[in-house]
Amino acid sequence: MVKGPQVKEIPGPKAREVIGTDYYNPYQVALVEKLDSIAPGDFEKKTFLSNSGTEANEAAIKIAKWSTQRKLFIAFIGAFHGRTHGTMSLTASKPVHRSRMFPTMPGVEHVPYPNPYRNPWHIDGYEEPDELVNRVLEYIEDYLLAHYVPPEEVAGVIAEPIQGEGMGRTGKMFAIEHFGVAPDIISLAKALGGGVPIGATIFRKDLDFGISGVHSNTYGGNALACVAALTVIDELENGLIENAQKLEPLFKERLQEMYDKYEIIGDVRGLGLAWAIEFVKDRKTKEYASNERNKVVVEALKRGLATLGCGKSALRLIPPLTIDEEEAKIGLDILEEAIKTVVG
Ligand SMILES: Cc1ncc(COP(=O)(O)O)c(C=O)c1O
Repeated sequence: MVKGPQVKEIPGPKAREVIGTDYYNPYQVALVEKLDSIAPGDFEKKTFLSNSGTEANEAAIKIAKWSTQRKLFIAFIGAFHGRTHGTMSLTASKPVHRSRMFPTMPGVEHVPYPNPYRNPWHIDGYEEPDELVNRVLEYIEDYLLAHYVPPEEVAGVIAEPIQGEGMGRTGKMFAIEHFGVAPDIISLAKALGGGVPIGATIFRKDLDFGISGVHSNTYGGNALACVAALTVIDELENGLIENAQKLEPLFKERLQEMYDKYEIIGDVRGLGLAWAIEFVKDRKTKEYASNERNKVVVEALKRGLATLGCGKSALRLIPPLTIDEEEAKIGLDILEEAIKTVVG
């Protein structure tokens, strides 16, 4: 959103350190120790380093299977977890992600997510959150586990607590911290490297494979990626998470104002610096306004604001965490102008 961040120069590593990949390097040790110390959960942890989100999730699948000796997974409808063969099986976002790819990894069952705005029961989850969550739990327990998924064979439940989250973006280092849950396994990527490819799978130490060779890769833990991630974490801890918390009320207030003014906005949701607005043709029927959403993206871009569509008719606002209040206000003004132009 608006101007790019002026991220401070990354110190080291030297060229000869970047080249080596099959040996440990000090940056790798520093990074896994740091991740283990900041991840939620009052238990000992280990971290496996890789190069992308899908790889981080592939490792999570293997750790869960290995440690539980079970094969089944429960994932949520609407989720995106990657596009390699294993993670594609967990992804249930768009049919195109699986087109011509069946059979996917067997043993994955999808269930509805307690999405407060759109869920199969048409419950207003903002008004009745407990009712919605209970319906989902009832579905899992009384249908899935009661009829066709043996609970004792489930290796894991995979969830992204806030879609579009990134480290620090929701106002906490890990979005799951908003919910007081300490997962056995946490996958990280993308935001962790601040633009440099990296993936990380943090898990309870007692889930480890225990023997070498079950899982590994070549470039995971390379010095460059580790230094980038250490720098990102340092920046997050020293001002950027606070910045996300500080700017949350501005986004909340301005987007709520836009909701009040423009009927085309059906829903506004978010935390910190992770926001989405959903465009609808009619607030009652919630018919997707995909074309209108696409036009808003274009109109905003013409005025210098880059936004991204997500889902059928939502727009995600994920500004750089370094954005300041003035820049945020400019971005929100441009967004409103773009919406105004589209609704006429
Ligand atoms: C939640 C989530 N999981 C997994 C992935 C896959 O990550 P990658 O593209 O790095 O493989 C993404 C990428 O968009 C993602 O947002």
